[in-house]
Amino acid sequence: MSLMNDMEKILISREEIQEKVKELAGTLSEDYKEEFPLLVCVLKGAMPFMSDLVKEMDIHLEMDFMDVSTYHGGTSSTGEVKIEKDLNTSVEGRDILIVEDIIDSGLTLGYLVDLLKYRKAKSVKIVTLLDKPTGRKNGLSADYSGFVIPHEFVVGYGLDYEEKYRNLPYVGVLKPSVYGG
Ligand code: XMP
Ligand code: MG
Repeated sequence: MSLMNDMEKILISREEIQEKVKELAGTLSEDYKEEFPLLVCVLKGAMPFMSDLVKEMDIHLEMDFMDVSTYHGGTSSTGEVKIEKDLNTSVEGRDILIVEDIIDSGLTLGYLVDLLKYRKAKSVKIVTLLDKPTGRKNGLSADYSGFVIPHEFVVGYGLDYEEKYRNLPYVGVLKPSVYGG
């Protein structure tokens, strides 16, 4: 038995992800070397990305975690944003880097960026591993982005289908049979 058997195709391999994470971390380390940024990991999906990213960043930084929900176990977005777990750290006067797994409609991050600005963050930027620009419902764009992907439902490297597959080290598309189709 291997989880690989559930995959229709692999979009981004473990090696491609690791290489991209190093590249992003290098850029971020340069851009934030004077700032002591607060990295805000959006749970649960961005956890593997955050974990790998910070280990490649050779600067002082602080980490915190936020859990917001827009998806409710299915494969389509409702656009509703609910804070399930808030930050423990004050963002006032801080340079914030939101770490996200994927941007689709942009509604989740649009909400988060507004919230952190309202709380008087000095700056708010976004690093996302994956970007689905064709899904966008607002003008949001990431400041740092790993891979642009087509408008398909993907799992792995943090992304789930009904809470499963987050632990895959690659990003891929599930076989229709996994959805019961
Ligand atoms: P929005 O639409 O607000 O959505 O940009 C961002 C959140 O939606 C989830 N999302 C996905 N989750 N496979 C997933 O497992 C996908 O293809 C996908 N597209 C969006 C994800 O939680 C993200 O943070
Ligand atoms: Mg998410």
